[in-house]
Amino acid sequence: MERRNFIRVMGVGLAVATLTSTLSRYATNNDSIDYGWDGPDDSKSDIYLKVLAYAILCPNPHNKQPWLIKVNHPKSFDLYIDQTRLLPETDPFYRQIHIGQGCFLEMLSIAATGLGYHAEIEYFPQGEYKNTVLKSKPIARIVLTKHIKIDIDPLFNYILTRQSNKREYDNSRLTPDQKYQLQMLFMKTQSSLTIHDSKSDNRYLQHRLTEAMVIEVANKARDLETIKMFRFNDQEVQQYRDGFGLEHSGVTGIKKFMLETLFLDRKETEKDPSNFSKQSVDITRSISGSSSTFAWITTKGNSRLQQVKVGRDYCRLNLTTTAMGLAQHPMSQILQEYDDMLPLQAQFKQRFNIKAEQTVQMLVRLGKAKKTTHTPRRLVSSLLIS
Ligand SMILES: Cc1cc2nc3c(=O)[nH]c(=O)nc-3n(C[C@H](O)[C@H](O)[C@H](O)COP(=O)(O)O)c2cc1C
Repeated sequence: MERRNFIRVMGVGLAVATLTSTLSRYATNNDSIDYGWDGPDDSKSDIYLKVLAYAILCPNPHNKQPWLIKVNHPKSFDLYIDQTRLLPETDPFYRQIHIGQGCFLEMLSIAATGLGYHAEIEYFPQGEYKNTVLKSKPIARIVLTKHIKIDIDPLFNYILTRQSNKREYDNSRLTPDQKYQLQMLFMKTQSSLTIHDSKSDNRYLQHRLTEAMVIEVANKARDLETIKMFRFNDQEVQQYRDGFGLEHSGVTGIKKFMLETLFLDRKETEKDPSNFSKQSVDITRSISGSSSTFAWITTKGNSRLQQVKVGRDYCRLNLTTTAMGLAQHPMSQILQEYDDMLPLQAQFKQRFNIKAEQTVQMLVRLGKAKKTTHTPRRLVSSLLIS
């Protein structure tokens, strides 16, 4: 399905039917609530729904979609973390969940420009909290203001095609010019981007990233957290509209059919995840081995605000690589904070002279690969709370 159609069917289009009652209290002067992608719609009641329909297409950990929106006014709303959608085993301090909030804010802000609005974002309007705890306070307050002559962010054009590409790549390196373009993106950010593509670095990373997956799946609770978000067939994709399955990693057609029919079974896998774990390790070995450029985003410090801002930077990086025709895939295991991972993480940081006070927030491989099917999204209406 075309991404544009996808968003209409999966997001705004279907949301219309279910949202009417929720929205009627925000609609002024009996504005009809009229959505659609084919023409401008100036009704006051739905600009934030359109903006949100783009925002939910952002990258986010395990495609959990951990966002809640409290609408204060047709053009002002607060973003909260959906605490029923966390990853406590692999993201024990909710760092990645906060990065996912930043991705949402960046996508929203870019989408607003494409719709003729400026999104003013106030971070942590009820106060920030420590990076070891999670509080039920909003991550941001967003106010949309219409601008007749707004500069449309050029990345707006790539929202509907961006993806995390989990396929095998073709071992091509980025050109010096491509690396320069990506480095330029981080000239004005608080976070920094490091790119590695030497043979020895690649070999080291391919081994360590695979080892990180071995560590991750050695614990059943961690493994089950991933299995819970793995979609074993199309029916699960349609039912849950989150997570990811074979086709989102590029396995399609007869191979997908055979694997799903003959080998993949949720009940069996949850009872004994050993085969699933082995596959995860094998896939990590082959995808990292197919990649010859790795990059990471680092911050000095690791506050909640920095995590959210890194999410914004990461989202821009992903949209920029999309614009450049590159594939991008996060590989986060080695960055995770549970005890078993810390020795390997320390080794990795030492190998690349990353100082103790620096946090590697995102690690990705970059390269060339065919596109995959997009991961699903829930309805915008399921994000709204009163
Ligand atoms: C903080 C963060 C960490 C992620 N870590 C991984 C990872 O370790 N492995 C992976 O395959 N994808 C990872 N992803 C990508 C998500 O799985 C992906 O964004 C999500 O499934 C939605 O798919 P999409 O980006 O293609 O729209 C990560 C994304 C974010 C924002």
